Amino acid sequence: MSKQRIIAAQITYEVVFKKQNLHEVFNQRLSDNLAPEFKSAVKALCYDTIRHYLQLQDCWQQCVKKLPKDKLVRVILSQALAEFYYQQKPEHVVVNEAANVAKKLKKNWACGLINATLRQALKNKNYRPSDEVAQYEHPQWWIDQLKSDWPNDWQTIMQANNQKPPLWVRSKKPIECAQKHPSIEGAYKIEAQIITSNDAFLSGSLSVQDASAQLAAHILNPQDNERILDMCAAPGGKTGHLLELNNTISLDALELYENRAKKIHENLQRIKLKANVIVGDGTKLEEWFKGEKYDKILLDAPCSASGIVRRQVDVKFQRKLEDLGAICRTQQELLSSAAGILTDGGRLLYATCSVFKQENSQQIKLFLNSHPEFSEIKLKYNFAINCEFGIQVITGSQDMDGFYYCYLKKNEH
Ligand SMILES: C[S@@+](CC[C@H](N)C(=O)[O-])C[C@H]1O[C@@H](n2cnc3c(N)ncnc32)[C@H](O)[C@@H]1O
Repeated sequence: MSKQRIIAAQITYEVVFKKQNLHEVFNQRLSDNLAPEFKSAVKALCYDTIRHYLQLQDCWQQCVKKLPKDKLVRVILSQALAEFYYQQKPEHVVVNEAANVAKKLKKNWACGLINATLRQALKNKNYRPSDEVAQYEHPQWWIDQLKSDWPNDWQTIMQANNQKPPLWVRSKKPIECAQKHPSIEGAYKIEAQIITSNDAFLSGSLSVQDASAQLAAHILNPQDNERILDMCAAPGGKTGHLLELNNTISLDALELYENRAKKIHENLQRIKLKANVIVGDGTKLEEWFKGEKYDKILLDAPCSASGIVRRQVDVKFQRKLEDLGAICRTQQELLSSAAGILTDGGRLLYATCSVFKQENSQQIKLFLNSHPEFSEIKLKYNFAINCEFGIQVITGSQDMDGFYYCYLKKNEH
């Protein structure tokens, strides 16, 4: 077990202090020849520690006079508390193992500090977070943004962000002993299990996809022989769903990155359906657009991912407030490109997995100001909030991810 803790601490260090992408670090550090149970245990510990890092560190930091300079030691302390609070490991185990990890990582000097700090932190049953960052386990800029965007819901959103995410699937057949979504056809919530070796998954009749993400294809409601563009398509979750709803459509799936486009091919192969996968930049039409306009476009735009942080826990450490400006510029450029390649009377669905208004309703307001040929088609779902433009599924609403949708029509001249 010590070995799992050592690798988990190194991975968490890379994410929290070096701002690395968690999946990439998993790929680098967890080689294929490791046993699946070993990898799952490492991943579970990383998720628990990273998800709650901002509170875990505050908890032990209240027991030291000076913050240790060594950041790996900070991670070892936080990870030990994560094991105690979120994995129900006994006190003596987490303290001894944390010291063992320090020794194995050649930090013998820290063993005394780790022992004393953890014992004191675990004894303190009256821990009170020092500030909002520790209380809500999000960076301060993120908390401020949510307070300003969602004065009534900001705490609910952060509480949902700090939970383990449920497993939602899209299924062609009813799944017994699963919870069916009350209004999204084909969406089922199931008890966590390894889905990728499941027969239904392998044969393509079942796909992993959050219920709120499943709304996209239902809103677009593909009709026979329509020409449709999925403008930001990888890994192809919504591409596959559109084809499942109607396989007579002619579907172009565009993706900027070649390695991500491969995922679309893999997904389509698994579900045995076909799209025309194009590697290209949605903002540079001259590179790939052949001149035949689309009846419908899905623009599932690159975004801050603030609505899916319960799944992508590393996003809390990667994103900075300054990033939002660049993200929003790309979103606006993609919207403008989409506007130009849609037929008159065509439909454009703008979507993000974000809860920040700047990327959502405000983005559409800006777009409509410069594109008077478009008007909004109002969407109505009892689980979503109606915004000035479009709808917002708040993270945790009916246990779904945070998602934004705005459905637009290009008016005929
Ligand atoms: C939110 S994800 C799409 C998820 C996908 N629709 C699904 O349901 O599986 C956004 C995707 O857009 C891609 N992307 C980013 N900038 C792009 C651009 N300028 N043109 C095309 N794709 C882009 C990203 O690489 C990423 O794969």
